[in-house]
Amino acid sequence: MTKLQIKNLTKNFDDTKILEDINLNIEEGEFVVLVGPSGSGKSTILRIIAGLEIPTSGEIFLNNKLINDFKPKDRDIAMVFQNYALYPHMSIFDNLAFPLKMRNIDKKTINQSVNDISSMLGIKHYLAKKPKELSGGERQRVALGRAIIRKPQLFLMDEPLSNLDAKLRTQMRAELLKLHKTLSSTVIYVTHDQIEALTMGNKIAILNHGEIQQIGTPGDIYNNPVNTFVAGFIGNPGMNFFKGLADKKAILGIRPEHLLINQEKDITFTASIDLIEMLGNEFLIYAKTCDQSFAVKTNDRLNLKRNDQIKVAIDLSKVLFFDESTGKRIPL
Ligand SMILES: Nc1ncnc2c1ncn2[C@@H]1O[C@H](COP(=O)(O)OP(=O)(O)O)[C@@H](O)[C@H]1O
Ligand SMILES: [Mg+2]
Repeated sequence: MTKLQIKNLTKNFDDTKILEDINLNIEEGEFVVLVGPSGSGKSTILRIIAGLEIPTSGEIFLNNKLINDFKPKDRDIAMVFQNYALYPHMSIFDNLAFPLKMRNIDKKTINQSVNDISSMLGIKHYLAKKPKELSGGERQRVALGRAIIRKPQLFLMDEPLSNLDAKLRTQMRAELLKLHKTLSSTVIYVTHDQIEALTMGNKIAILNHGEIQQIGTPGDIYNNPVNTFVAGFIGNPGMNFFKGLADKKAILGIRPEHLLINQEKDITFTASIDLIEMLGNEFLIYAKTCDQSFAVKTNDRLNLKRNDQIKVAIDLSKVLFFDESTGKRIPL
């Protein structure tokens, strides 16, 4: 069943277009990641779904019901923000219980729910504490707990992990996915981090300047980007682009792992190395040819160093072409 449907949504702030004809369907139980650079309109989309912002035009359906005119509290949607605002003077128990108390749920049910949620999130030992006595990761778990305790129809998460350090973020990503499986909930997860998008989403929507560029699985998006924006945004680093190599109107795109150093392959060219980065088990070699910079990913440092001249080979089977004026993919 389609849980949420966004139809021809636009949003202007004053005379500025912020969102342009957004269309997105989210099925029951899906974990959809909305990813895009800062300022691309991600939070505005979530705020409109939650009812905190009014669309300029377009329709939002929840369970096939038009909810444009519903007040936020009547939408049965929960939102988790980057800045998880817990009530500082309340205990963790009371923070978790709050959404249920607001709905006049009886005490026994509240106790049971707080008990269940806090066990699930591993915060049962902190129930008597105040938020300031907890670490960032623990507080974020409480914020999650508070969002899920009333079992809403839909979860909206706006960069909920971006205040956590890298290690905790990786751990929380896995926990969120586990939680999603356990609850079979429907989630829209917003991030500016493309790695988070690739690792978490079973469906990814990529946003730029208020427009959805592409919707697909991580594999679709990575292997079949529809334009240079998606190809360059997704990947670490993104796809390399070479201009004016063959046809002046086409850009040749190739991912860093599909360039080979000092090997014979379909096409080769020479380049000089600007920088070598070690990523642990891989190396990123940044190089330049005819004023065009690009990156190569290798498993081996190959005894190379800065300023070395290298021969770079292109695996032609992996090459994509894009229109230089529109950035759109040229189908082959
Ligand atoms: N209340 C507002 N009034 C005017 N402009 C706004 C308002 N909220 C957001 N914007 C603008 O809308 C654009 C998208 O913002 P936002 O949705 O927060 O982007 P993101 O979450 O992707 O970083 C930005 O250019 C931002 O400055
Ligand atoms: Mg935002």
